[in-house]
Amino acid sequence: MPLLKEFDDKKHLLEYDDIDTLHKEFLDIYNSVELENSQSLRTTVAKLLEHTKGHFASEERLMQEFGYSRAREHIDEHNKVLAEMEYFLNIKNSPFGDKMLKSYYIERLPEWYDTHLLSMDSDLAHFIKERSV
Ligand SMILES: [Fe+2]
Ligand SMILES: [Fe+2]
Repeated sequence: MPLLKEFDDKKHLLEYDDIDTLHKEFLDIYNSVELENSQSLRTTVAKLLEHTKGHFASEERLMQEFGYSRAREHIDEHNKVLAEMEYFLNIKNSPFGDKMLKSYYIERLPEWYDTHLLSMDSDLAHFIKERSV
């Protein structure tokens, strides 16, 4: 079976190892789901939520460490995404709830991943690299 979403070096690699590793791990968890199994879907979103909390905390530590000037908006976006994940995870276990969670999973999450990496995370990685030389 093809992976749901591949890590694309051309698009996703930010050439900052700690962040790249977190982003690859995110997709490893994301791709481990059995989409047709609603229990698997819930378990995987729960795992993603835990991993994403650590992922965001690491980026936010780097923001602090390097005095990143656009931290406020980046952290706001992180908090929004965590709240959204929690919201979808807590939708009642019903056929409708499963359908909502699944469409969130296959449509919204991968789109968010691309947008966030290409905009905010790439800006952060760029900022850090400029200050680490
Ligand atoms: Fe990130
Ligand atoms: Fe981020």
